[in-house]
Amino acid sequence: MYLNTIQNVMKTIGICGAGAMGSSIATACLQADFSVFLYDSSDRARIQGQSFIRGAFTRLVEKKKLSQTAAEAALKRLRNCAALKELADCDIVIEAIIEDKSAKAELFEKLSAILRPDALIASNTSSFSINELAQSVVNPARFLGLHFFNPAHIMQLIEMIPSRRTTQAFIEVATEFVGVLEKLTFLAQDTPGFVVNRVARNFYLEAMRLAEEKAASISQIDALMRSAGFKLGPFELMDVIGLDVNYAVTLSVWEQFFHEPRFAPAQMQREYINAGLLGKKSGMGFYDYSQEKE
Ligand SMILES: NC(=O)c1ccc[n+]([C@@H]2O[C@H](COP(=O)([O-])OP(=O)(O)OC[C@H]3O[C@@H](n4cnc5c(N)ncnc54)[C@H](O)[C@@H]3O)[C@@H](O)[C@H]2O)c1
Repeated sequence: MYLNTIQNVMKTIGICGAGAMGSSIATACLQADFSVFLYDSSDRARIQGQSFIRGAFTRLVEKKKLSQTAAEAALKRLRNCAALKELADCDIVIEAIIEDKSAKAELFEKLSAILRPDALIASNTSSFSINELAQSVVNPARFLGLHFFNPAHIMQLIEMIPSRRTTQAFIEVATEFVGVLEKLTFLAQDTPGFVVNRVARNFYLEAMRLAEEKAASISQIDALMRSAGFKLGPFELMDVIGLDVNYAVTLSVWEQFFHEPRFAPAQMQREYINAGLLGKKSGMGFYDYSQEKE
């Protein structure tokens, strides 16, 4: 079968960033039989990432979606990398570090120096221009956006965003890869926030403006939106995403739309971040998760 070809030829996936997205993307790749080299510049993040991945496989076994033997085999294919150069032989590298344009550009320059020129490089950015990020990649024909959703091992959708310089051959490699992961792909244009994050801006921003106006409380807004059919309310969802990540995306989309007022950040975003209330990952955001076990 053709889809097996990519697994036979391209076996090793490098992932940069072991935070919420890097760890869940790693889980998805391990489940699809790939070997994963997971790199993060922070020791703490790598340890937390490993523990997230182990927890995800334990739950898969508990839910009888995977045998204990298969879970153990998957975990053996995971390599924890403290140095970027350990990713040198990877066939595909997915960047999932902090939403900071210059940090990403610096990483792509370093990756370009160590990877084979035909290794596919994908960014999981939520909002930055793929055309602009591509400028930091040597041989940008092999670079595109693969925007996974949180958590990546559970959510089905991936937005695929080629730049103007991505070639069809690499779009095909990426399509096959996403197919092996058994995800659904939408081929998106390189517009600020792509499709989902652009639409979702108002979901978050209007909710925060309503709360700031005291038109309704945070928990009331969430409860109303759930009653209206949304799976999570806007504040619950921001707590899952991370308030820092969501704020970085808000700023990026606002800037790319030349500071259009409809995309302007809400004051409460900065207030919560300044207080270290980042959502589930910090134990508290709009809600308190300090009593929840991992
Ligand atoms: N959180 C979400 O819901 C979500 C969804 C889709 C896409 N994204 C995107 O995925 C990316 C990662 O988001 P996240 O939520 O996982 O963030 P996170 O804060 O959970 O993790 C980011 C990780 O990057 C690491 N890092 C920072 N700079 C680095 C560098 N130079 N080299 C190596 N590692 C570095 C940090 O140590 C941290 O572990 C961002 O671009 C974000 O916009 C996030």
